[in-house]
Amino acid sequence: MCGIVGILGKGAAAPRIVEALKRLEYRGYDSAGVATLWHGELHRVRAEGKLRNLEAKLAAHPLEGEIGIGHTRWATHGKPTETNAHPHASDRLAVVHNGIIENFRTLRDELIAKGYRFATETDTEIAAFLVTDELAQGKTPAEAVHATLGRLRGAFALVFLFKGEDNLLIGARQGAPLAVGQGEGEMFLGSDALALAPFTDRIAYLEEGDWVIATRESVEFRDAGNNVVTRRFIKSPAGGLLAEKGNYRHFMAKEIHEQPEVIGHTISHYVDLSAQRLKPFDWPCDPMSLNRISIVACGTASMAGLIGKYWIERFARLPVEVDVASEYRYREPPIDKGGLTIFVSQSGETADTLASMRYVREHGGRTIAVVNVPTSSIARLADVVAPTLAGPEIGVASTKAFTCQLVAMAVLALALGRARGVLSEAEEGARVAELVATPGLLAEVLKLEPAVEKIAQTLAQARDVLYLGRGAAYPLALEGALKLKELSYIHAEGYAAGELKHGPIALIDSAMPVIVLGPRDPVFEKTISNMQEVAARGGRIVLIGDAHAAEEAAVAIESFLAMPDMAPTFAPIVYAAPVQMLAYHTAVIMGKDADQPRNLAKSVTVE
Ligand code: G6P
Repeated sequence: MCGIVGILGKGAAAPRIVEALKRLEYRGYDSAGVATLWHGELHRVRAEGKLRNLEAKLAAHPLEGEIGIGHTRWATHGKPTETNAHPHASDRLAVVHNGIIENFRTLRDELIAKGYRFATETDTEIAAFLVTDELAQGKTPAEAVHATLGRLRGAFALVFLFKGEDNLLIGARQGAPLAVGQGEGEMFLGSDALALAPFTDRIAYLEEGDWVIATRESVEFRDAGNNVVTRRFIKSPAGGLLAEKGNYRHFMAKEIHEQPEVIGHTISHYVDLSAQRLKPFDWPCDPMSLNRISIVACGTASMAGLIGKYWIERFARLPVEVDVASEYRYREPPIDKGGLTIFVSQSGETADTLASMRYVREHGGRTIAVVNVPTSSIARLADVVAPTLAGPEIGVASTKAFTCQLVAMAVLALALGRARGVLSEAEEGARVAELVATPGLLAEVLKLEPAVEKIAQTLAQARDVLYLGRGAAYPLALEGALKLKELSYIHAEGYAAGELKHGPIALIDSAMPVIVLGPRDPVFEKTISNMQEVAARGGRIVLIGDAHAAEEAAVAIESFLAMPDMAPTFAPIVYAAPVQMLAYHTAVIMGKDADQPRNLAKSVTVE
């Protein structure tokens, strides 16, 4: 998946395209490119690697022209080389593409048979040639694009720029987002409102299957059936300023440190702080009628779902199943009519999560989206949005959005318990008080950073790392392992501490750090036993627990991180911070790019 932008403007387009691409780098950053039209001719500059490489090339060879398109790539088809970088072009047009054209092989063979010569390994080039072929038959650009769209299968967003057409861009959306921004005598297309925020805050979103014919003065939306349709322009809340790192070396570090504040905001969205009670929640279905709940998400968001399962089962006494969206969507799971599925997503654009939500809706299920981007596709499709107020998250590995997701899951669990009459008012008050304490506790934990950094020095030497936890700390162990893997490229696994003896114990030796997440909860003693099993086999234990945890464990511990005393209920919200800091510092010590780890992207809009 990738970020795309198109500008029909006044003044040089290329620098503005680069500005927009900077805001889209979260969607991919393995190569980038720009194409503009100058005196009716197409000109392109593309570069392998991060956007700064493209910037350097453009500085050396500026592109003229007031209309253009740009792209930042996360490779799907073809290596991230300059040749495979977008925009792709024929002698008649250039195109940028986000997504996957699934039937590209058949179409490619057909075009090769017609004499088209492919310069790249991408699926995108077929879109360029198909439209070119339609143009060659005398169609107008709009007719040619429309005819082509009917032949493409998959999930994609496209923007076309045509030779000799100084006042025309054509865009299309099928399964991947595309927004139109309207300026003063200017028009913009982009993957999201954030990309267009420097130019305009008047945004309209293409609906599924829409395509759009844009000029500087006008925009015509057409639906999949080619009917002219109205798509409303709204004032977008996306801020004009690109988030800054402040005094931090990386966005990730800044975002870790923002957590006390943003989880505080999220809590106050759901909680009446003076009364220490939950604010009313608008359920999309009758909570009393539910027999179970499903939670669907990807990556770190799915870890928030797993932790939510512990809380919902405990407070609402409802069975919960949690699934990763890429499995859920193709499993054809039975949906209870009027039943509830909660979707968790930072970006609100993750392709598998979005497709799973569509599946549930088509089968009569009701949906709640726990989502950080209020204008996203998932937020717009859900019956009810439960927002996380993390603010823009730039670091590719999710941190503050994750802890805000945990807050939302905690609130949903408590609210469901109340709505179903299984959680007393007194218990609601007690649990809300514990939740309200988490921002302060998190702020305290962030002060442990120097101690975390020391532990990271040893992790940076490791080849494999094991994370153990029980109860709600088990999914946090999974998240810890995921964070370390994605940032430092060290192999790591998260395991339920009690499951250790059924396999992973065989891995334990004096080389492998075992990180134990041991908040003082009702299963803490059991976790101690598991730690003893590790120690008995000469394992290297890193314990994260409260001040007395190391003493009580009575085993040799290599490193100990003393966490503040706290009620165990929502401990994962607080214990998330050392887990994140460990991964961050290990990556930094190893010289890895903590904000943009290799091969990853923040928003995964392909399946
Ligand atoms: C990518 C990101 C993760 C994120 C996941 C789900 O893999 O690198 O940090 O958790 O996508 O993204 P979402 O936007 O749906 O939360």
